[in-house]
Amino acid sequence: MGAPGPRHRCLSIRNTFIRAVILTFVMMSVVGFFLQFDLEVSSSIVRTAASAKEAISQQIPMASELISSWVDKTIPLTTETSMLPRPSRNMACDYDMEKLRRWQKQYGLEETFEYIKRYVQVTRQSIPRKSVTHINQHFLVDEFRVMDVNLEYAPEPCPEPLVVPVSKSPFPSSANASDFMFGVSTTYQRFIEPRTSPINEWSYWLTDGHGISNGGKLLLKLLNATEDQLQEARKKLSDVGIDASVHSSDPADIMAVRYLSLVPAMHNHPARDSKKWLVVCDDDTFFLSLHALSDKLAEHDHTRPLYIGVLSEDVNNVQRHGSQAFGGAGVFLSVPMARLIAERYDSCRTEQKINEANSGWGPQGDILLRKCIYENSEVRLTLLNDLWQLDILGDPSGFYESGLRPLSLHHYRGGIWHIAHPWHYTKVARICGEDCTLQRFQTADNFVISNGFSVAFYPRGIDFNLNQVEATFGAAPDDKGWNFDFSMGPRRPSLHKTGRKISWDLQEATVNDDGTVSQVYVLKHDDWRWKNPDGTPMASRDGVVELVWMPDGEEEG
Ligand SMILES: *[C@@H]1O[C@H](CO)[C@@H](O)[C@H](O)[C@H]1NC(C)=O
Ligand SMILES: *[C@@H]1O[C@H](CO)[C@@H](O)[C@H](O)[C@H]1NC(C)=O
Repeated sequence: MGAPGPRHRCLSIRNTFIRAVILTFVMMSVVGFFLQFDLEVSSSIVRTAASAKEAISQQIPMASELISSWVDKTIPLTTETSMLPRPSRNMACDYDMEKLRRWQKQYGLEETFEYIKRYVQVTRQSIPRKSVTHINQHFLVDEFRVMDVNLEYAPEPCPEPLVVPVSKSPFPSSANASDFMFGVSTTYQRFIEPRTSPINEWSYWLTDGHGISNGGKLLLKLLNATEDQLQEARKKLSDVGIDASVHSSDPADIMAVRYLSLVPAMHNHPARDSKKWLVVCDDDTFFLSLHALSDKLAEHDHTRPLYIGVLSEDVNNVQRHGSQAFGGAGVFLSVPMARLIAERYDSCRTEQKINEANSGWGPQGDILLRKCIYENSEVRLTLLNDLWQLDILGDPSGFYESGLRPLSLHHYRGGIWHIAHPWHYTKVARICGEDCTLQRFQTADNFVISNGFSVAFYPRGIDFNLNQVEATFGAAPDDKGWNFDFSMGPRRPSLHKTGRKISWDLQEATVNDDGTVSQVYVLKHDDWRWKNPDGTPMASRDGVVELVWMPDGEEEG
């Protein structure tokens, strides 16, 4: 099948002079505009004549129309194409229909959806990480193309890549985590089920990404596993390069005690001799930046008893459960601290202590640990606020789009909490460095790429404070409106259902054979968030934005 679909390229033209001529032409002749550029708008005008019913559905613009109606293409850009660095890789803007069909099925898209592929050239420079970097280029050069998965399409020339400057932060592959032992207690079922299995996530922060341990040790306690299943778990972990010690949990212990028991288990492990920090965390704790984490911990004296972690960012949960490190964010114990807990372990897990650790929501392992420390020493919690427990509900975009550089994430597997895909989000760090995950790039046409998480478009412009967190998510179960203020600052109002924001959210990312990283961002036209104030959807079609990140060619040298 060779039939190309409707095409609406406005600016595949590289030369600014030609661009200016064309813009003049556009301004002089609206009719000429439609003829020249075969906009979807023009064909929809023809189609609306066909039936009144269809005319109503056609009033909802496609994302591309929404964008062209708001983007001021006359904004002069100071970045001349000739000044852009040469792309470090061959760019190919062909249409891999196998891939598009897979996305259509996997992400439940309609058979016809809008698609754009954009290359991004990373330039690593001696600059600090910025929360948001302004890029003097348009995100949209070629416009979205309407793809029908039943057709085939001819390749196109690629527009020049977006060029993004980033700091020279270290790559995850060079992290050395040998100062750390991590303890996790979970069930065999959660370990093995694809929806909850942490193996991919662990392979990010416990290996070099190429099947070799980064020195970090994992002590895993599995509940409800037979000897064969323990053996199977050991094999799965060692196959991906994770240095793990796998044991079964005592089924007689309640969850809070299984959690506390990780501390003596780590302290009594022979590998402890070479460790500085014994870390208690959950099976859905994710560390994004092992270099930054090691640097942060190196500011503390590991030879002293230290208890380092973070409160819940929801003040309501601090009030309910108490002031202690919330384990999902990761709790860092120096070896002398762990020794004290191991020595007092039996007295810290008595029935009385378990009762005292009941916040009304059942006995809490975090409380048991805090009591063990506070009742047996003068050590008190040292806050490390870049760790995140993430007791957040609903759409987590406001957090992930805030430009932060979190050291940990948690609660991203859905259930009552939020859904996020940190293993995919961090893939791009392999070519642009640890700091570049969730870093923001704002283009001249009001797009913001929150790297790895979303590509958002703001049709009315960015007339709000990007330095504040958008209140897209809520607190559980008592949302007073200000639960998060002490940890995030008051949040700016959510743009849900205002017609002022629409976003494509990352679903998967892949490291390609040529050293580039592809990211797939998906928009569903019926997404409850992207509505106008009158309830009509902002876009009439599903859409996919594919970003292909190219490593810095200079640095590879
Ligand atoms: C990692 O760090 C440890 C101790 O901090 C050191 O002994 C070891 O040589 C380091 N490994 C590499 C590969 O740099
Ligand atoms: C223990 O394993 C059995 C069978 O494999 C399963 O049905 C049960 O749900 C498991 N219990 C827990 C607590 O995961």
